[in-house]
Amino acid sequence: MAKKAKDPSQKGLLRAHSPHDNFRAPFDDDWRGSDSDSDSDLDATDFLDESAASESKSAFLAALGPRRQWSILRPLAGRSRCCIILLSTIVGIWILLAAGGAVIYKKYQDEPVYGQSPPWYPTPRGGIASTWAASYEKAAKMVSRMTLAEKVNVTTGTGWQMGYAVGTNAPAIHVGFPQLQLQDGPLGIRFADNITAFPAGITVGATWNRQLMYARGKAHAIEAHQKGINVLLGPCVGPLGRMPAGGRNWEGFGADPYLQGIAGAETVKGIQSEGVMATIKHFVANEQEHFRQPWEWGLPHAISANIDDRVLHELYAWPFGDAVKAGVASVMCSYNQVNNSYACGNSKLLNGILKDELGFQGFVMSDWLAQRSGVGTALAGLDMTMPGDGLKWANGDSLWGPQLTRAVLNGSVPLERLNDMVTRIVASWYQLGQDDEKKFPREPPNFSSWTNDRFGVASYGSPSPQEKIEVNKFIDVQANHSIIAREVAAEGTVLLKNENVLPLSREGLPEAKLMARRDNIYRAIGKRHEGKFKVGIFGEDAGPGEGPNKCKDRGCNQGTLGSGWGSGAVEFPYLVAPIAALRDQFDGSKVDLHEYLSNKPPVGGAERAILEDLELCIVFVNADSGEGFTKWDDVSGDRPNLDIQKGGDALVQRVASQCGSGTGDVIVVIHAVGPVLVEKWIELPNVKAVLFAHLPGQESGNALADILFGDVNPSGHLPFTIGKSLEDYGKGAKVLYTPNGVVPQQDFSEGLFIDYRFFDQFGKTPRFEFGFGLSYTTFEYSNLQVVPQKTKSELPARRPNPAAQPPTYSSDIPHASEALFPADFRPLKKYVYPYLNSTDDIVPGQYPYPDGYDTVQPLSGAGGEEGGNPDLWEVYVSVTVEVANNGAYDGAVVPQLYLSLPLARQWIARPVRALRGFHKVYVRKGETQTVTFDLTRRDLSYWDVERQNWVMLVDDEFKFAVGESSRDLRVFGTW
Ligand code: NOJ
Repeated sequence: MAKKAKDPSQKGLLRAHSPHDNFRAPFDDDWRGSDSDSDSDLDATDFLDESAASESKSAFLAALGPRRQWSILRPLAGRSRCCIILLSTIVGIWILLAAGGAVIYKKYQDEPVYGQSPPWYPTPRGGIASTWAASYEKAAKMVSRMTLAEKVNVTTGTGWQMGYAVGTNAPAIHVGFPQLQLQDGPLGIRFADNITAFPAGITVGATWNRQLMYARGKAHAIEAHQKGINVLLGPCVGPLGRMPAGGRNWEGFGADPYLQGIAGAETVKGIQSEGVMATIKHFVANEQEHFRQPWEWGLPHAISANIDDRVLHELYAWPFGDAVKAGVASVMCSYNQVNNSYACGNSKLLNGILKDELGFQGFVMSDWLAQRSGVGTALAGLDMTMPGDGLKWANGDSLWGPQLTRAVLNGSVPLERLNDMVTRIVASWYQLGQDDEKKFPREPPNFSSWTNDRFGVASYGSPSPQEKIEVNKFIDVQANHSIIAREVAAEGTVLLKNENVLPLSREGLPEAKLMARRDNIYRAIGKRHEGKFKVGIFGEDAGPGEGPNKCKDRGCNQGTLGSGWGSGAVEFPYLVAPIAALRDQFDGSKVDLHEYLSNKPPVGGAERAILEDLELCIVFVNADSGEGFTKWDDVSGDRPNLDIQKGGDALVQRVASQCGSGTGDVIVVIHAVGPVLVEKWIELPNVKAVLFAHLPGQESGNALADILFGDVNPSGHLPFTIGKSLEDYGKGAKVLYTPNGVVPQQDFSEGLFIDYRFFDQFGKTPRFEFGFGLSYTTFEYSNLQVVPQKTKSELPARRPNPAAQPPTYSSDIPHASEALFPADFRPLKKYVYPYLNSTDDIVPGQYPYPDGYDTVQPLSGAGGEEGGNPDLWEVYVSVTVEVANNGAYDGAVVPQLYLSLPLARQWIARPVRALRGFHKVYVRKGETQTVTFDLTRRDLSYWDVERQNWVMLVDDEFKFAVGESSRDLRVFGTW
């Protein structure tokens, strides 16, 4: 029997009144009237419905009748005193808890007004960009032939685990639009077999290599395509890394918007070059895991990231701009609220910034259950809801699906909006060439995310009986992608310290060094060297542990660390542990390898003598984190601190003191999701080298060996700052671990000053600065030239007129009969369909729209094309420098350009310097190369809140500094 849905606002899921973006019209109750039969699924939220609970209790007692009630209660009269005492204690505790609850309720009563983000309506229609015009034309033809139910199908997920992929919408069969298959995630294909586990985003960022960024994206998409995926749920450029302990920073490319922007855009281009749609995520300011979504952390609301307009533009939204400019097909809006309005229902963000200002032509999809209202999100610019279920996981009770059908029929969601949603999705499909059936056959993926068995059901999440079919075909799509994975892992390894110990030779140390060091060591310990060179490998992180896939979604830290955990992780096909590669690569005839794959190696007895004899010790330590749905140890998604985990610091200290009795050379290798503190041992005299290998993916050991033995000269650079303490990053860098209200509030009051910008602004000395990374060779910089390309001017050229016109469709609301379940249709339980059982309750009318809905918004001067005003992407000045390799090895170098804004108008806050260019170039020893940085108008501008545009300061000079890190600046120039 179809039950009436409970109104979520009564259950505290949504505030009763949402003035702007998350608007729920008064008719919402009806609007959510459910066609699903799954309301019986109770979850954590149901206990809130106290009045309902007590009502049903009295109903239960009433139904028993007076005599049976009495017979239940009567035995109490005869109970002993003890029972009475027990009962009074329970009642006492209950009263105390209730009083406590009342106090908390009082405290939290002052929750902020919902929707402090300004309204921006209506949603700009897609189809204005020259680059998309042909796809929109084709889409218009297809959409105009769709029925209402088909249109709704295209916009709404079919429900959690209803298809093979983590997300599927439904097809528009009679016009030939297929079901789309959406799959995580940024570092490989989640829940799939025979795929590549690439290095994580943070490792990619650390390569600073644009070609590799592109190549990894392309290889990832080749695999996705061959597995039958249409849409990849990556790359990730948010979180940006405001908080170094943020749980998911590792999925992105580093704590700087420019680096994220380039890496995100290159990845998008790589993915889309194979015809797979990329999804740039999470828009925006999902900077921490704690409280990221309602109920996951016990609170009814997600955290609100409160950001001002300028900071949003210059930091958090910046990399999304690059992705849009690169033609990204999809943007995933995030779980959190921004300025107290859910990101997926925030009209300023989606309609205003993304679709008008950035001219985004693709479709906005919700993160999984990030949609928190029905009509409100449609009006605010959401185009696709995922996974389709609404406020609760896997119950099939969608906020769209049949509700969207109803809303269009009664007029509360304008038909024009629905048409635009669908057109954006269909146009993206054409834009990527997925209409070519030879390349994209209309078949489900050849793997199931939900079972490893060959046979299973198509809708795993539905309890309805289904026929078993072949769901896993185990197709190997890895090709030679391990080569790219290995290159990224090697180039993403940062050499932090090297006192004449690296590169090693296969015999242990390079011959000359070897002799000298041996003499020293053995003189110091008063022994004679005999036999082979003695190397010790220490730490659990060097070994395979219990296998890379021991914990679900990689949600624990054991064995060597290849990735963080959560939806951004994959099933490793294999993981080359460092020990395996070292065993393989050290010359066994010359090297005696001693393995201690534990963080508490033995110290006494026979081991003591061995440790005293070691000449070289390599210690592996790590730090892990991940998505907030899983916790490991004291890491609830976000790390509780920046410490190396599992006693790694103590391990390094012990090894340093015992390796060759304190005279052996120690190399520390760190695998980590982000910055870790190294203060406890970094200055120990025999800690001679430190490698920061980030999260290297399946080729971990091989890539590390490439660096250790000098087959690859290190060229990785830090994509974040390694401070001396968490405090040094500033107040804003701290994760909010305990809620400060029923809607946790996080004010981004540090503004532009995150990571290195904070250290520079407040004169803090980092341990290793942003951009830092050593090489086995050295480079000399000279001859910086500034080559103006265009004349400076404050504002970009006028916003151009649209290059194309969005399609128009008939505005006649379709006949309600289009929305009814077809005759003889056998629905699967929990599956989200677009259909209604009856149209009797549909009352067309003039429904109220959110406040501000009728205010005409001025079009942004920063907009006008895909990526925004084209003038913002014009190169205004180029800077060239010469880089010579004057050291002993060939190698790649990463010249980085930092910009300081003109001094004029000092009241405008600005970072001391900001990254605005980088290239990786390979320079042979003795050779010189010229590197050119092209700076666009956007690169040279700040976001002027009053003028609502990017503004160039023209009345003074820009300063350029080029060097090898944000602090190692070698050559300078002005314009
Ligand atoms: C939630 C995550 O935040 C998002 O990144 C992911 O793509 C979806 N789940 C789907 O797994």
